[in-house]
Amino acid sequence: MSKEFNITLLPGDGTGPEVVNEAVKVLENTSEQYKIKFNFTNNDLGGDRYLNTGELVTEKDIEQFKNSDAVLLGAIGHPDVKPGILEQGILLKLRKEFDQYINLRPVVLYPGVETPLANKSPEDINFVVVRENTEGLYAGAGGYIHFGTENEIATQESINSYYAIHRCIKYAFEYTKNNNRKKITLCAKTNVLTYAHDLWERIFYDVAKDYPEIETDYGHVDAVCMWMVKNPEWFDVIVTDNMFGDIITDLGAMIQGGMGIAAGGNINPEGVSMFEPIGGSAPKYTNKNVINPLACIGAAAMMVKQLGEENYAEDIEKAIIETAIKLDSLSAGKMGMSTSEVGDSVVKYMQQVND
Ligand code: IPM
Ligand code: MN
Repeated sequence: MSKEFNITLLPGDGTGPEVVNEAVKVLENTSEQYKIKFNFTNNDLGGDRYLNTGELVTEKDIEQFKNSDAVLLGAIGHPDVKPGILEQGILLKLRKEFDQYINLRPVVLYPGVETPLANKSPEDINFVVVRENTEGLYAGAGGYIHFGTENEIATQESINSYYAIHRCIKYAFEYTKNNNRKKITLCAKTNVLTYAHDLWERIFYDVAKDYPEIETDYGHVDAVCMWMVKNPEWFDVIVTDNMFGDIITDLGAMIQGGMGIAAGGNINPEGVSMFEPIGGSAPKYTNKNVINPLACIGAAAMMVKQLGEENYAEDIEKAIIETAIKLDSLSAGKMGMSTSEVGDSVVKYMQQVND
C-alpha cells in the first residue's frame, strides 16, 4: 500500500515554473521507491493572472490550498507589476491565511560548493534559521496622517505577541532537539527594542528551562551579521523575528553558495505548509533553461520531510549534494548544465541510491 499526498503546485512567475517542473520531475520519478504517491494539482496565481484579471488570492485558491497536504511554490514577482502588490497579495497573504508561523531556512554549505567566505568549509557553515513568520514589522500595523503633504507622518509598528513569540521559540527548541542540534541563539536587538525584544528575551529564557540539554546564546542582529561572516561555525539554530529573519537569511543564502541552492519552508506544523526556493523570479533568465533548480528541489525535500518521510527527504538531499559537486557554478547560466539536466542528474543519483 502506498501513501498518498495531495500537493498544490504554485509555479508563479518568471523562472518559477521551470524550477517547479524539475522538482516535480524528481518527485514523480522517485516516489514509487518510497511507496509514496503524489497527486499534483496546479494553481496559476502570479503576475500574469493578476495582469489579465486583476485577481490576487481568491476564495477558490484558498479552497484548493486547504485541500492539499502541502504547497510547493516557484517564485512570485513580475516586472510589469508594481513591487509590493504580488508580495503582499500572494506570498504574505498565504503565509498569514494558513498561519504558517515558522519560516524555516537552513544555511548549509554543501561539499564542493563555493562560499565567498575565505577558509570556511562545510563543517563551518551548517545552521538553521527559525524566523517568526506572522507578525513583527510584517503585521501591517501602521498608517499615514496628512498623506501626500509635507506634514506627512507614516508609521509602521512592530507587533510582538506573547502567543506568536512563544510558539515560534517553542518550535525552535523542539526543532533543535529533534534534529540533534545542540545550541540556539536568539537574534534580536534588546539594547534598542527595549520592549518588544525584551519580551522575546524573557520568553526565550523561560522556554529554555524545559530544555536543559540545549545550550542557549544571545546575539544582537548586527553582531549576528558580523559573526555569520567571521565565525559562522558558532551557529547551530538561530531564532529571530520576522524582519531580522528576512535580512539574515539573505546573508545566509550567500554564504551557503547563493540563491541557486537556498530553500525554505513556511510552516504551520498543524496545517498546510508552503515550501519555496528563497530566490526570486529572475525574469531575465526565464524560459532559457539556465536557472538552477536545486533550491526548488531542496524545498521539495523539506516538504517531504515535513510530510513525515525523513528517509526520502535525506536521499533527495544526498542527490542534490552529488549534483551540486558536478556543477561549474550554482549561478544561472554558469552551471555547465541546463535546468532540465540538473533535474535529470538528481533523479539519476536517487535511482543509484536505491539500486
Ligand atoms: C522572503 C521575501 C519576502 C519577505 C518578500 C518577497 C515579501 O523577501 O521570502 O524572504 O520579505 O518575507
Ligand atoms: Mn527575503
